[in-house]
Amino acid sequence: MFRDSYTSFSPNTPSKSNTTGYTLPSNISPDDPVRACYVVLVRNQELNGLLSSMRQLEDTFNRKFNYPYVFLNDDEFTPEFIEMTSAATKSEVKYGKLDSQMWGYPSFINQTLAAENRESMAATGIPYGGSESYRHMCRFQSGYFFRHPLLDEYDYYWRVEPDVDFSCQVDYDVFKYMRNHGKKYGFTIAFREFMGTIPSLWDTVRNFKRDYPEVADNLPAKEDTLFKFITDDNGDTYNGCHFWTNFEIASLDLWRSNDYLKLFNYLDRSGGFFYERWGDAPVHSIAATLMLRKDEFHFFNDIGYRHSAYTHCPVEPEFRDRCSCNPDTNFDYDPNLSCYSHFENAF
Ligand SMILES: *[C@@H]1O[C@H](CO)[C@@H](O)[C@H](O)[C@H]1NC(C)=O
Repeated sequence: MFRDSYTSFSPNTPSKSNTTGYTLPSNISPDDPVRACYVVLVRNQELNGLLSSMRQLEDTFNRKFNYPYVFLNDDEFTPEFIEMTSAATKSEVKYGKLDSQMWGYPSFINQTLAAENRESMAATGIPYGGSESYRHMCRFQSGYFFRHPLLDEYDYYWRVEPDVDFSCQVDYDVFKYMRNHGKKYGFTIAFREFMGTIPSLWDTVRNFKRDYPEVADNLPAKEDTLFKFITDDNGDTYNGCHFWTNFEIASLDLWRSNDYLKLFNYLDRSGGFFYERWGDAPVHSIAATLMLRKDEFHFFNDIGYRHSAYTHCPVEPEFRDRCSCNPDTNFDYDPNLSCYSHFENAF
């Protein structure tokens, strides 16, 4: 079972106006431990790719800080998976299975229609257009991972996937950085979405704001947010810019807020996770943009990262002796697919 409401978090605390400095609440000191973990949604057959990611994460960061891992799967983990992953770290490891509410069709989805739409999206060449499990994954990452009981004891997470590279030594505690600077959402790659996957997402978000004025009226003022990151026409349309969610270092309370849960439920009811192919990345980015001030985002320039064909590699000379990535492969200013300039220009 997962939780369907939380009351402890208001996204606009502690200070609404201060965009440059941030003051830690007086009951926290900068050295206090942070309740944080890696969260990894993974299948047994991805074990080798995961071990590759873990070895690099351990080498560049975690051997110095020892944060625990939470592994989640829609199936039971095999003994081999558990043995190999727990041997790859000195940190605590936890293994959880998803239930049918987190990974399955809600009763209001017409599965015949969903199957027809998958077929036509596959025929038009939309990435993962024909995949059923990809849709369950995107819905889980949008609305459920932060409510899995194994995550209840944590406040921040770092999402990790199989077959990624971490290529720079990081010698400070990134979770303390997030907490001590009032950061809620950290990323390394800003990407542009294939719009064929989300034809009705933006209008659904706009309808949500119309139907939930008590949420809409409580959001930060647009000029204090990253609004210009996600729209080029003052909100008429979504430009497809989003932070790539295969890497995220973020606050769990952001998603546990009642405002976000209302938005997720509204999106879920509309059916777009199944009738279209809404990704968790545009969903997270649109929601975080609406709910957070721009100074609550953080670009982890110093974390070299590769997923599939795309790499963030810090180009500044001082990183050459701590990174193994090639700065010529850096994706930040790719003219067609990167949205990093949009992020910079939103400030
Ligand atoms: C479900 O979708 C199919 C295919 O579009 C349609 O024929 C059927 O009437 C729908 N069922 C319901 C209960 O709406």
